[in-house]
Amino acid sequence: MTNVSQQELEGLNELARKAAENSYSPYSEFRVGAALRLTNGETVTGTNVENVSYGLTICAERAAVVRAISQFGPKIRIAAIAVANLNGKASPPCGACRQVLAEFIDPGAPVVFPVADGTRTMTFSDLLPLGSEMKLK
Ligand code: THU
Repeated sequence: MTNVSQQELEGLNELARKAAENSYSPYSEFRVGAALRLTNGETVTGTNVENVSYGLTICAERAAVVRAISQFGPKIRIAAIAVANLNGKASPPCGACRQVLAEFIDPGAPVVFPVADGTRTMTFSDLLPLGSEMKLK
């Protein structure tokens, strides 16, 4: 696992919770936040943004990734990510978000997410094995 301190992960988790307060989720009422620690030292958050056409919903994790690139450019690397929700339920990153994260995240980066009885931390490569193996060139 990439070396990010427990204290830092707790701070990221708190930022993810704060971001969840901005959630636009009138359909599910499931309020999610994500916080990224970038290797450049910056922190970027995101929240879920739903749509009346359900499939257009953007998850908190992908919102954070898009924001990070928009702010800091295409070379960003993600050193750690925390996900939180305000509903007290388990919410590991969905498959679509794992695939999008794979472009930018260190395979050893810790991923913190809510489980039934608290939070769990796993490396990204445990969440998405072979996530960086697809090569188009
Ligand atoms: N959601 C996220 O934003 N991230 C997750 O990790 C789990 C799911 C959102 C999508 C949708 O707005 C709501 O939570 C219910 O699935």
